Amino acid sequence: MALYELPKLPYAYDGLEPFIDAQTVEIHYTKHHKTYLNNLLATLEGYEKLAKGKSIEMLLSDLKQIPDAIREKLIKFGGGYANHNMYWFILSPNGGGEPSGKLLKSINDKFGNFTNFRTELGKAAKSVFGSGYGFLVLDNANKELEVMTTKNQDTPYSFNKTPLIIIDVWEHAYYLGYQNRRADYVDQFFNILNWDEIEHRYDEAMNK
Ligand SMILES: [Fe+2]
Repeated sequence: MALYELPKLPYAYDGLEPFIDAQTVEIHYTKHHKTYLNNLLATLEGYEKLAKGKSIEMLLSDLKQIPDAIREKLIKFGGGYANHNMYWFILSPNGGGEPSGKLLKSINDKFGNFTNFRTELGKAAKSVFGSGYGFLVLDNANKELEVMTTKNQDTPYSFNKTPLIIIDVWEHAYYLGYQNRRADYVDQFFNILNWDEIEHRYDEAMNK
């Protein structure tokens, strides 16, 4: 068995339509995501011991432990693998709406209200220059919610933060459906957010 595997897409390729089209999902999952995984496995050849029994998130959380010879590749390919593992699961054909319970309370406490939160996260994702991501994260040290962005395939795990929402703003995530209109893609993204999964991640991160 390989050290890491491609998680099964939790819906059909057309499951996120009309917000993300089937062809974009298929290429994004079967080509981009799969290639990150393949490159990660190639990077870890000869370093199996290092990764054995550890999730990719654990490796990315402690980059000091990664040998110099493979650290950059692990950040790129391991990050790409981890970011996409998360991306598919915080989206759902039955998504949208608002969170509830403790997460909603934390969002209201931090951002004032849900609309402000949406605006702030959306603005961050739209503003990434080049390729990267917008995130809602929980800071592991002070347990506060934050909006952050990363470049390329950098992940919040490497900054002692747990991602709860990820918005992929690499062009491959939206160009077929939205062309250059990244802002429209980001605005529509909120219609497919899987709040059950995001709340679950929040509870887990709070109790870590
Ligand atoms: Fe992507």
